Amino acid sequence: MLTKLDDTASTLSRRLRTPTPAVAIVGATGAVGVELLQCLERRNFPLSRLRLLASARSAGRTLPFAGREIAVEELGEASFEGIDLALFSAGSGISRQYADAAVRAGAIVVDNSSAFRMHADVPLVVPEVNGAALASHSGIIANPNCVAAIATVALAPLHRAHPIRRLNIATYQSASGAGAAAMEELRESTAAYLRGESYRPRILPHPYAFNFFSHNAEMDQESGYNGEELKVIAETRRILGADELPVGVTCIRVPVLRAHGMAITATFDEAVTPEKARGLLADAPGLKLVDDRGANRFPMPSEASGQDDVLVGRIRKDLGDPSGRSIALFVVGDQLLKGAALNAVQIAEALLVR
Ligand code: A2P
Repeated sequence: MLTKLDDTASTLSRRLRTPTPAVAIVGATGAVGVELLQCLERRNFPLSRLRLLASARSAGRTLPFAGREIAVEELGEASFEGIDLALFSAGSGISRQYADAAVRAGAIVVDNSSAFRMHADVPLVVPEVNGAALASHSGIIANPNCVAAIATVALAPLHRAHPIRRLNIATYQSASGAGAAAMEELRESTAAYLRGESYRPRILPHPYAFNFFSHNAEMDQESGYNGEELKVIAETRRILGADELPVGVTCIRVPVLRAHGMAITATFDEAVTPEKARGLLADAPGLKLVDDRGANRFPMPSEASGQDDVLVGRIRKDLGDPSGRSIALFVVGDQLLKGAALNAVQIAEALLVR
C-alpha cells in the first residue's frame, strides 16, 4: 500500500504542476520555435500564458499566436519565473546555460537540443515508442535528434513484434535541420543559380542549390563518422531500448526545405515477410503507409512536409540478405514536426495533469 502511494505521489510530481501551464519557448524565432507556436495553437494546448524568448536581436519583435501578437523577450536567468513548461530550441549551448534555471524555477524542460540526450536521468522520448520513459525524470526531458525520432516511429512497431538485430540507414536530410538561416540559404542560392549568378554559402559549407553533400556536423577524424551519424546511432539505440544494436548510418544533406528521407534496412532475429512488416506498419500510431508499387508512388518530402504523420513505403525484402531476415523501407518525415516541434508538444501533452 505504501509503495503504491509513493508511486502515485512521485508520478504526479513528474507531471506539470497545473492543468493549464504557463509556457515559455526558448528560441521562439527559430525554425523549430515558430513550429512549436503553431503546434501549441493547432493542438489547443491548454496553456494559461505564453512567453516567447530569443536573443537580444529579436527582443521587441512580435509573433502571432491564436489571433494575437506576442512580444519576443530577451532570454535571461529570470525568464522562467512562474513558468511551468519550458520548451527549449535554441541550440545546445543555450540549453546547457539556462535549463537548470528553468528547472529551479519549477518548470519542466522539454529540450530539443542534444545537450542532455544521453544523460541517464534525462529520458529521451518519442511518445509512440517509449512514452513510458516519461514516468521518471528530474525536470528535463530530451527531444531526440530528428532522424532518430522519425526512424524509430517506423522501426518500433517492427521491433516490438520481431527484435531488430542490425540496422543500416542512409539519410537524405533537409535544410531545416540546420535552422531557419539554412532554409533561407537554400532558397537564395537556388534563385541565384537560376539567374546564373554566383552565390557564396554562409551557413552550410558547400554550394546547396542542385547539390548534396555529407552532413555538415563535425567529422570524427578517426572513425570517419560525423556528429549527426553518431547521434543517430546512440539515440536510435536508446529510444528502442537496444543498447548494443549494431547501427550503420550515412547522413547526407540534400536540397529539400523541411522533410528528411531515410532508406533503412532492418535485420531481424528471424525471417519477416514484407507482407507481415506492411501489416505491422499499417496499424501503427504516427505512421502512414505510402506504398503503391503500381503507381510507383512512395514517400516524398513534398507530401510529408507539414504533416504530423511519418510516411513509410517501399517495404520489400532486402535482396542483399538471402536469409530472408532483412526488410528494406523508405521513410520520410517532416523534420520540423515529428523531427522536432510536434514531438516536443506531444511530450508536453503526456505531462499534462489529467
Ligand atoms: P534569434 O532569432 O534572436 O537569433 P534556428 O535553429 O532556426 O537557427 O533558431 C535558433 C533560435 O535560437 C532562434 O530563435 C534564436 O534567436 C535563438 N538564439 C540563438 N542565440 C541565442 C541566445 N544567445 N539567446 C537566446 N536565444 C538565442
